[in-house]
Amino acid sequence: MCRGIMLFCGRAEHIVKTFTAATFGAIVTDPPIGTLRPDAYFDFFEEREMFRLLRAGGKIIAMTSPHHAVVELRPPRHFTIEARPELVPAATAVHPHERPLEPVKRLIETTEGEILDPYAGSGTTLVAAYELGRQAIGIEVDEKYCLAAALRLKLSEGGQ
Ligand SMILES: C[S@@+](CC[C@H](N)C(=O)[O-])C[C@H]1O[C@@H](n2cnc3c(N)ncnc32)[C@H](O)[C@@H]1O
Repeated sequence: MCRGIMLFCGRAEHIVKTFTAATFGAIVTDPPIGTLRPDAYFDFFEEREMFRLLRAGGKIIAMTSPHHAVVELRPPRHFTIEARPELVPAATAVHPHERPLEPVKRLIETTEGEILDPYAGSGTTLVAAYELGRQAIGIEVDEKYCLAAALRLKLSEGGQ
């Protein structure tokens, strides 16, 4: 794997339980929820005990589908809708919800510290973090997307 980047293949809700509290500066992810209600995103991350993983001042940036807004979440129960990254066109995407790299990089640049993407898909957040010289951990349950993410990271490393 690339320097500073780790990828776990498995269920996020199980794997994050093994992580130490207050480890990450930000969770930047495109979670499997199809709504634009910010409180539904808050509940989703709260139920999965992900806020405990954030350092003081850390935030969760959740890219939403199908309308491609970004919900920025901070405990206690505070959220704003901030930006609108699009999807990569289906003809060139390796994942049906693949996000373009540049908007995801801009989101990461608003954060500090290590990044977690618990729903990594094809690894866009991980590639973006790597190209920005940031440390990141990704989790993806679907083996074919784990492999796609690992391949993208390998190619990204080769391009340095
Ligand atoms: C919306 S996609 C993310 C796509 C990503 N934005 C990209 O650019 O490729 C969400 C991903 O979460 C994964 N997923 C769903 N449930 C999961 C779980 N419990 N643990 C880990 N990954 C999960 C899905 O397989 C899917 O690839």
